Amino acid sequence: MERIQSALAKARAARDRKMQVANPGAKTQTESGPWQDLAEIRLDPKVLERNRVVAHHPGQSAASFDLMRTNLIRALRTNGWSRVAITSPTQGCGKSTVALNLALSLARMADTRVLLVELDLRHPSMLSLMGLPPNQDFAGMLASGRLDYGQIRRVGPHLAFAVNSRPLESPAELLSAARTADMIDEIEAKLRPDVVIFDMSPMLANDDAIAFLDQVDCALMVAAADETTVTEVDRCGKDLAKRTQVLGVVLNKCRHMEQEESRAYPE
Ligand SMILES: Nc1ncnc2c1ncn2[C@@H]1O[C@H](COP(=O)(O)OP(=O)(O)OP(=O)(O)O)[C@@H](O)[C@H]1O
Ligand SMILES: [Mg+2]
Repeated sequence: MERIQSALAKARAARDRKMQVANPGAKTQTESGPWQDLAEIRLDPKVLERNRVVAHHPGQSAASFDLMRTNLIRALRTNGWSRVAITSPTQGCGKSTVALNLALSLARMADTRVLLVELDLRHPSMLSLMGLPPNQDFAGMLASGRLDYGQIRRVGPHLAFAVNSRPLESPAELLSAARTADMIDEIEAKLRPDVVIFDMSPMLANDDAIAFLDQVDCALMVAAADETTVTEVDRCGKDLAKRTQVLGVVLNKCRHMEQEESRAYPE
């Protein structure tokens, strides 16, 4: 565990150094800074709700995500972290739904900017979850090696997103490339989000998520109540813990619990 802590601290320090070089005046970013210059789009609340995306406005449906965001932001601030991976043992546990809800919930906080990055490159789904046309290609931009802020868009003042229209067949090479890490560092240095949420691939299906985990500060595991087995949670948790700090497990798709009991994670 100490080795992980020290590796994470080193990676973070290297990132911070790069960010200071890339954008020394970032803290004095003005109203016309890089964040505000991102193309702004509007989401249709009816489409969101149809897709189980409920955290764009406060209320009972959003309460469990609000609780999750408060725990998350506390953990991030306490440790000086910004990057969280959302993953799961297997496919279809609800990673993307949880990632988007969590991002929308965080973005409702007055002083918090969130960047949502879709890195489940075999199964991109964010655009359809958000009810948007398939016209963004963040992974294509990473593969090209040329930063293009047209591939990052904004919803309201606090949420930016970098997502994909088309699947990639074998994304681990792209995800583990030093250039990919550099580009993401550069984007973070320029936009200065408080939280970066990465929607990742499932851990037990392939090596895609593992290929990127060195780049995050911590991870949340999403498990599906009636689908994920204890063995899968255990294996996934162990694999995650070798590479990053595991914040906890989000139990999703709970049919037999009160809604506010259905999603939680320990500190
Ligand atoms: N709390 C929930 N209750 C019931 N169904 C849910 C819940 N959360 C998500 N789903 C449904 O489960 C399916 C998978 O959700 P989602 O795409 O978010 O999972 P995922 O883990 O990102 O999947 P993939 O591994 O394919 O990317 C979707 O049809 C979604 O609407
Ligand atoms: Mg997904």
